[in-house]
Amino acid sequence: MRKILVTGGAGFIGSNFVRMVLTEHENCFVVNLDKLTYAGNLENLAGFENHPNHKFIKGDICDGPLIDKIIEQYEINAIINFAAESHVDRSIAEPKIFIETNVTGTLTLLEAARDNKLERFIQISTDEVYGSLGPDGKFTEQTPLSPNSPYSASKAAADHLVKAFAHTWGLKVNITRCSNNYGQYQFPEKMLPLMINNALNDKELPVYGDGLYVRDWLYVYDHCTAVWKVLTEAQPGETYNIGGCNEKTNLEVIDLILKRLDKPNSLIKHVTDRPGHDRRYAIDAGKIIRELNWNPSVTFEEGIGKTIDWYLSNNDWLSNVVSGDYQKYYDSMYENR
Ligand code: NAD
Ligand code: DAU
Repeated sequence: MRKILVTGGAGFIGSNFVRMVLTEHENCFVVNLDKLTYAGNLENLAGFENHPNHKFIKGDICDGPLIDKIIEQYEINAIINFAAESHVDRSIAEPKIFIETNVTGTLTLLEAARDNKLERFIQISTDEVYGSLGPDGKFTEQTPLSPNSPYSASKAAADHLVKAFAHTWGLKVNITRCSNNYGQYQFPEKMLPLMINNALNDKELPVYGDGLYVRDWLYVYDHCTAVWKVLTEAQPGETYNIGGCNEKTNLEVIDLILKRLDKPNSLIKHVTDRPGHDRRYAIDAGKIIRELNWNPSVTFEEGIGKTIDWYLSNNDWLSNVVSGDYQKYYDSMYENR
């Protein structure tokens, strides 16, 4: 039995990964460690709480003794680190927690992986560590790191630490760098679910700047299958870019959402831009396609259709998530913008 410690497994991508593993890979036991910040939500794991191959533990990746105890108690073979502060706008408003979780937290996990001689450490990184592209070209695994926001700087720092542990102590590591994920259970601070939620409620859609910023959209399930392939098939030391080959401007994505929900374009409101906003991300995913035979399972049009349908039929999830502190966050970010 493979025994893995998944961190951040109550967040968006982590919970989709845990669901996929428990559904598709019966020979794997998952310990799911999550601090349950504003972004962590046990409702993301509904139906899997009592799965025999799943143990949820509330805790912080910065807590070294806790990590050691979990590794020993559950005889963990590998760590997959999804846990992070993940939202760029929050990192601009309050950067410190990004250093604590994304840098110190990753360091704490690396020390535990090294000291307990784990077979593998997988760091879930981001294409944002490469910085911003002009109109042409794509990020490859060789593109130098040039992060622009406090969020991406903290993720790049974590990547350097992962490589340093491999180089200095021979820890068996992989880094994955993916593009923008979308799909079920995404917290509506991120652009796509925020726009879906606002459109459903006939609220303005706050488009930063000219709306011509480009992101390369990756369906979350496809990201999860890629991470599983890296865990089970990759050679140690390798880094893989993961992308959906779906470059779209923000206005193109919003247009698709409005059409699908039959809402008017007049809901769009251009607002003050994000400081230091990266213009374009695009991933060359050739390496993982060639070496690990991974391929995305859906086109963007299929994926966004499934995603919007999911939000429509999970209205309870959405209304729970946007109650309480969400409204305060929304006002602080968007009022008078
Ligand atoms: P998310 O914000 O939805 O979830 C993060 C999870 O980590 C939450 O459940 C939160 O409670 C948990 N967490 C935060 N701090 C913690 C701590 N100190 N200890 C334990 N748990 C903690 O994030 P996401 O969108 O699911 O992203 C997951 C990972 O993927 C992150 O590392 C992020 O940098 C990376 N990533 C995300 C995207 C994307 O489009 N969402 C793209 C590229 C990379
Ligand atoms: O590229 C991978 C990264 O993608 C991940 O590492 C991050 O964790 C994830 O948050 C995401 O970062 P982005 O900044 O690209 O995602 P976000 O959803 O915040 O924004 C997507 C685009 O939409 C970006 O150009 C900013 C714009 N935007 C965003 C919001 C929240 C708006 O125009 N209006 C908004 O209200």
